[in-house]
Amino acid sequence: MSKIRAAITGIEVFLPEYRLTNRELSTMVDTNDEWIMQRIGIKERRILKGDLATSDMMAAAAKKLLESTHTSPDEIDFVIAATNTPDMWLPSTACIVCDKAGIRNAWGFDLLAACSSFIFALETVNKFVESGQYKKVLLLAGDKMSSIVDYTDRNTCPLFGDAATALLIEPTTEDVGVMDHNLHADGAGAPYLNLKAGGSKLPASYETVNNRLHYVQQDGKTVFKYAVSNMADVAVEMMERHSITPDDLAYLVPHQANLRIIDAVGRRMGLPPEKVMINIEKYGNTTSATIPLCLYEWKDKLKKGDKLILAAFGGGFTWGSLYLKWAL
Ligand SMILES: CC(C)(COP(=O)(O)OP(=O)(O)OC[C@H]1O[C@@H](n2cnc3c(N)ncnc32)[C@H](O)[C@@H]1OP(=O)(O)O)[C@@H](O)C(=O)NCCC(=O)NCCS
Repeated sequence: MSKIRAAITGIEVFLPEYRLTNRELSTMVDTNDEWIMQRIGIKERRILKGDLATSDMMAAAAKKLLESTHTSPDEIDFVIAATNTPDMWLPSTACIVCDKAGIRNAWGFDLLAACSSFIFALETVNKFVESGQYKKVLLLAGDKMSSIVDYTDRNTCPLFGDAATALLIEPTTEDVGVMDHNLHADGAGAPYLNLKAGGSKLPASYETVNNRLHYVQQDGKTVFKYAVSNMADVAVEMMERHSITPDDLAYLVPHQANLRIIDAVGRRMGLPPEKVMINIEKYGNTTSATIPLCLYEWKDKLKKGDKLILAAFGGGFTWGSLYLKWAL
């Protein structure tokens, strides 16, 4: 019997309308467009305004996906919401999105793995689909990073933006879909990128709020160093494992954290710039959404069977690469 793999058969995105430009940021903290473009490579990022949450963005993307793939909500049998900014701790954002999108026959849960959430979730879905029991899976990936970013901290606030994506994943026995993975998690990285309060270790108190501990904090230089070496190592390893040359590879689809990180990873893989998907300038780091946002924007250029390597690095530390053959 041929092997069952998970294939992406539909993809939609939701981008908030509001654009937070470097010019506007420079009225909030001591920064400027030139510094941000040179050190990070971001021009603007989308911000979800008003009384809306991650589930609203995900539900909007999910509804578009159901329509564009002619899928009834009743056909969805499993849902994963990859996010670091759930609407609340309980219930899961996956449950809330199911309700908002009219999905009644599925079960599912949230998956939190910082900036690696999407690739961790895609491999998780792959394993469910491989079992043969799941036929139409909804993979949601998105974050309202503006809800955990400190807009008085110039070390973090230029980096992040809000967005959500929704993907339909179905089984295939063709030679496409998720081919292989190389994923890692190492909590020794916790001191360098974290959000300290609001969990069981440091529940919310006046003190945690006064000390701004409900915002994401990082040691940017350390994160930068590990991001470059770990992402490049797993991406190169994936090329070697499958004897993929730079000529064979259609694209590297990297997590969009910093243009300098992306460029360094592409160089280590021996890729020309046109084989690296980059849209960080328009959206910043949308955490769980960066990789599917790239896939969405490049989908018309991709052909069935195109070889892609997805690579990410994030808090945890978590990192990894996935080898994917495009199925559409
Ligand atoms: C955050 C990051 C852009 C900082 O860039 P960097 O080149 O390492 O800059 P440094 O932290 O060394 O700071 C250099 C100087 O710029 C200043 N600076 C920091 N942020 C600034 C900003 N937004 N505008 C202007 N100056 C800034 C610093 O205060 C420092 O000044 P000093 O030399 O007078 O002390 C970079 O380290 C990075 O991208 N790290 C990875 C972060 C990441 O991707 N995290 C998400 C998870 S994957």
